[in-house]
Amino acid sequence: MEQMEQLRSRCLSCNQCPLCETRHNVVFGVGPENTGVMFIGEGPGEQEDLKGEPFVGPAGRYLDEMLSIIDLGRHNCYIANIVKCRPPRNRDPLQTEQDACIGWLRQQTAIISPRIIVCLGRIAAMKIIREDYRITREHGRWVQKNGIWFTAIYHPSALLRDVSKRPDTFADLLSIREKVREVCPELLQMQ
Ligand code: URA
Repeated sequence: MEQMEQLRSRCLSCNQCPLCETRHNVVFGVGPENTGVMFIGEGPGEQEDLKGEPFVGPAGRYLDEMLSIIDLGRHNCYIANIVKCRPPRNRDPLQTEQDACIGWLRQQTAIISPRIIVCLGRIAAMKIIREDYRITREHGRWVQKNGIWFTAIYHPSALLRDVSKRPDTFADLLSIREKVREVCPELLQMQ
């Protein structure tokens, strides 16, 4: 707890990239630290920037629905982003911004020590799983690195825009539920 609070307070005054000049709030991350599962998006949008919390806009509401299908939610998962400050007009975060910010996520991950990391969308998958990750081809596949299981699913914003991607994502969510049952079943008891 202490460690994460200290990390959060250092992160809140970060000025390691120009996104700090336009942000209203740093969007650090939310969720219990004793969870085994992390969901990682790309970066805050307008609502997140205003509130200081990840996934609270339309994509966030959709993410909440997706998670509830498989008995997950903010009460038993940690949710964060690759970049902690909103890129102007919701553009993709630049490589330099991602590189400046990724250290915060690495430290969050070290504290949580998750068994499963789910990347939400292409940008997170390319930063976390593999630089040349192809989300259309590879979503839902599992890879294990250093004792952690990684997968990626379509970003909830992409699912809001393109309903044809939803059946595939439903299958991916079921596979995430299986993996949770297998490697961190205690998480399903968390209130
Ligand atoms: N999209 C993201 O990738 N992250 C958020 O926090 C909100 C929207």
